[in-house]
Amino acid sequence: MSESSEQNQSNESREERRFEPPDDLAADANVTAEAYDRAAGDRLGFWAEQAERLSWGKRWDTVLDWDDAPFAKWFVGGTLNAAYNCLDRHVEEGRGDRVALHWVGEPADDRRTLTYAELTDEVCKAANALTALGVEAGDPVAIYLPMVPEAVISMLACARIGAVHTVVFGGFSADAIVTRVTELDARVVITADGQYRRGDPSGLKPAVDKAMESCPNVRTVLVVKRTGQDVEWDDDRDQWWHDAVDGQSTEHEPQQFDSEHPLYVMYTSGSTGKPKGILHTTGGYLTQVAWTHWAVFDLKPETDVFWCTADIGWVTGHSYIVYGPLANGATQVMYEGTPDTPDKDRWWRIVEEFGVTLFYTAPTAIRACMKWGDSIPQRCDLSSLRILGSVGEPINPEAYIWYREHIGGNKAPIVDTWWQTETGAMMISPLPGVTAGKPGSAMNPLPGISGQVLDDEGKEVPDGSSGLLVLTEPWPAMLRGLWGDEERFRETYWSRFEGKYFAGDGAKKDDDGDWWLLGRVDDVMNVSGHRMSTTEIESALVSNAKVAEAAVVGASDEATGQAIVAFVILREEAGDGGEEIVQELRDHVANQIGKIARPRQIMVVPELPKTRSGKIMRRLLRDVAENREMGDATTLTDSSVMDQIKGGMSDGRSDDD
Ligand code: WT7
Repeated sequence: MSESSEQNQSNESREERRFEPPDDLAADANVTAEAYDRAAGDRLGFWAEQAERLSWGKRWDTVLDWDDAPFAKWFVGGTLNAAYNCLDRHVEEGRGDRVALHWVGEPADDRRTLTYAELTDEVCKAANALTALGVEAGDPVAIYLPMVPEAVISMLACARIGAVHTVVFGGFSADAIVTRVTELDARVVITADGQYRRGDPSGLKPAVDKAMESCPNVRTVLVVKRTGQDVEWDDDRDQWWHDAVDGQSTEHEPQQFDSEHPLYVMYTSGSTGKPKGILHTTGGYLTQVAWTHWAVFDLKPETDVFWCTADIGWVTGHSYIVYGPLANGATQVMYEGTPDTPDKDRWWRIVEEFGVTLFYTAPTAIRACMKWGDSIPQRCDLSSLRILGSVGEPINPEAYIWYREHIGGNKAPIVDTWWQTETGAMMISPLPGVTAGKPGSAMNPLPGISGQVLDDEGKEVPDGSSGLLVLTEPWPAMLRGLWGDEERFRETYWSRFEGKYFAGDGAKKDDDGDWWLLGRVDDVMNVSGHRMSTTEIESALVSNAKVAEAAVVGASDEATGQAIVAFVILREEAGDGGEEIVQELRDHVANQIGKIARPRQIMVVPELPKTRSGKIMRRLLRDVAENREMGDATTLTDSSVMDQIKGGMSDGRSDDD
């Protein structure tokens, strides 16, 4: 919330810009304004109607059981199969020939098209293969794959047999695999030999091989052949995907699972060192991801082509590449590589090639495209685009306007969607045929979602003021807990305000009552829309023998939203910190957590500013990192500390990656 005063100043002029829904879209929208009233009058009835859009083995008896709050049960007594809902039912209803995935590899001519019928067959084969490997309902399976169709196939194969997948983002290091596999006690891991990134094959299996040294319980590693590069092989443990899957039958009877059967665990950074395993279950989750995808993107499954650029390793990929769009029978694009390979127009060439109509990406990507210049998207025909989505961090008005003008041709509305790994699905967003858009505002909670902005005492702030974002009623896709840690679940989300879910975000309602998200209020950073914990990176730094103490802050950064800046005190024997050690520490963090966690800047300092109770004053460090005048430092034990810091800084700054 560090920029809030700046934000307040310019909000006035921002709020003047208002884009009404285009007439043609409004006339034919999936959802009308009536949905807000309907949901406000009967929230559970509204969600039950949305659940009817799915196919259930047995219908539920009770929409919501909240007796054991904060542990919710949705659609109690109902049974369903998530994969059947995403696949077979479309085939059975005559949509088998519709394209489910237009997959685009990074190398120029790499394409693979899978219809709903073909994807169903692939998932059935993979489900049979997993069963043959001894995987049963409730068993965890770890997935560490690039953006290839097998990532979708693996997830749905797990869902089909009731196994609980945990997808580890391919940018994370071996350690991230170890912690997840160990915590869940996964016995099967699915990976690939490698992937294409920036024009070259790069390895994935080596990280798994390294992780497996610390995961003795894993009995099988299934390996998708993607690049054909040389890999080490353990005959007792490793199996090629094509050997295990290709020969399997395409027949597989999907079993119906309880509505609350676990679907997946997704790890995300919290404000303490250890990542949290967010648990999602089946019926409520699928209901809300399907409905929000259909409503917020006004999906017309017969004609639309949807493209979400997120990686499958994040919740956005789970909810809006796999479960939401496929439950809706959508046709979508899935792309393996980076937006600038071989050239900076790669994304727009893909939009043109497939006639993408609905596009969903993150503000950091839009800002990168802005920097590359207006002439790049002008090379391509983008006239098919009719709705543009944004997710992951607040979208600054400049990026919003550029996105609207240069990608959306000033006609496609922008939906800025606020949600979290924990919420499972979109929570605050415009409805493009109903709500106006304001650059920088996510507008209103969706129908069926109840939120408030509170002050520190828990009182609602008046319109025009900012405070803390809470959700006041349970919602179908909400997390059902943190894996194996009930206490942390209560403490993190439900203890700040009695009976309300505390999201960790600041928010403001403007004079029209529209919502503006102001960023995290805890020790969680948002770097390029990726969530990183300051303390997790601090722990990584102090695990290096040369570091005595470390403090990490998220400094505002034009390109990435926030950037990681670390302050370290070295141990005496490490010397006084030249460029070499700074480089070593940056690499150390990349090895411990992953490249995305590598600090932009590491400052070697003699001292860190602390309160009397010994808490590091990150706010002051953020000021230093952002080169601002420093705020009030009277609670420092020794206020000369900051002068020392500024004086004795050895600044290791790096602009690579
Ligand atoms: C945090 C959640 C939602 C999937 C991707 C990130 C920030 C997310 C927005 C938005 C402002 C946003 C919040 C939130 N955030 N979307 N539209 N406007 N901020 O999921 O990794 O769980 O991160 O991302 O700070 O708490 P995540």
